[in-house]
Amino acid sequence: MSSSKAVVLITGASSGFGKVTSEILAENGYWVFGTSRSPASTASPKGVEMLELDVTSDESVKSCVGALLAKTNGALDILISNAGVVTRGAIEEMTVDDAKSLLDTNLFGSLRMIRAVLPTMRAAKRGKIIFMGSMAGQITVPFEGMYCVSKFALEGFAEQLRMEVEPFGIKVSILEPGFFKTNLFTSPREPSVTIEDYKEIKARALKRLRGFDEAGEDPVLVAREILKIAHEKNPKLRYPVGKLKSGLFYKKILPERTFENGVKRRFDLDKVEPV
Ligand SMILES: NC(=O)c1ccc[n+]([C@@H]2O[C@H](COP(=O)([O-])OP(=O)(O)OC[C@H]3O[C@@H](n4cnc5c(N)ncnc54)[C@H](OP(=O)(O)O)[C@@H]3O)[C@@H](O)[C@H]2O)c1
Repeated sequence: MSSSKAVVLITGASSGFGKVTSEILAENGYWVFGTSRSPASTASPKGVEMLELDVTSDESVKSCVGALLAKTNGALDILISNAGVVTRGAIEEMTVDDAKSLLDTNLFGSLRMIRAVLPTMRAAKRGKIIFMGSMAGQITVPFEGMYCVSKFALEGFAEQLRMEVEPFGIKVSILEPGFFKTNLFTSPREPSVTIEDYKEIKARALKRLRGFDEAGEDPVLVAREILKIAHEKNPKLRYPVGKLKSGLFYKKILPERTFENGVKRRFDLDKVEPV
């Protein structure tokens, strides 16, 4: 493999956005390394070298990045921190352990990854870090509250990291997709506790959510946006992607109460009788 190709590491490339993005980047001349917790039992994306990685483990992150650097002679140009999971349920139904487990992947996983790659990027005085945020990091989704917490946190993380590493020539961006057809929602994690009082309103909101999942957009749109950022000399901080972009506009211009009522309507929570 030619060392003149820009080297990309994308976490969670066994499925969904990661798989499609890794293939598009490989087709476009990047030297792409993808990851999975079980690469041996996963079909590799076309043109992509797969490495084993669990972003919840310091050891695994260290050995994955070490293995990549050994293959590329110390080069790493772009990190796409994409691996993620979703939990659906009321916030009150989440134990602290449920929340910690979600954040361990969706937030601390990104912290582990950037801590592993930044020494190489700082020494090279260049690099790009692209986080997989979500529209749910800007607009909360009923009964996906803890997932939203993880993505809201990632927004602040990316926004500040961008300022801190810019002096080293490193660019930071975050994608904000709406609902896309991947495997994320096939079997969302459930909270450890079920509280009967939420049963009816949760069922109403989850029914709507499943409808949004089914109408999800093609993940190739997200992959193309990432390709654009990879090519871009000076990428922006935020890249909303998909039809729900208009929601961000309405959130900016509408009074808070009006916007909130709109969200409630979309999730069938507007005509709920007091419990
Ligand atoms: N789908 C959407 O509508 C949507 C919208 C906005 C944002 N997102 C975000 O997009 C990202 C990718 O999700 P997706 O929708 O493409 O879902 P997906 O098809 O379920 O893919 C998730 C990927 O994450 C990896 N992963 C999960 N836990 C991991 C861990 N502990 N360590 C390493 N890898 C792990 C999985 O790999 P293995 O199981 O092989 O390890 C898999 O490749 C997530 O951050 C998600 O929050 C998705």
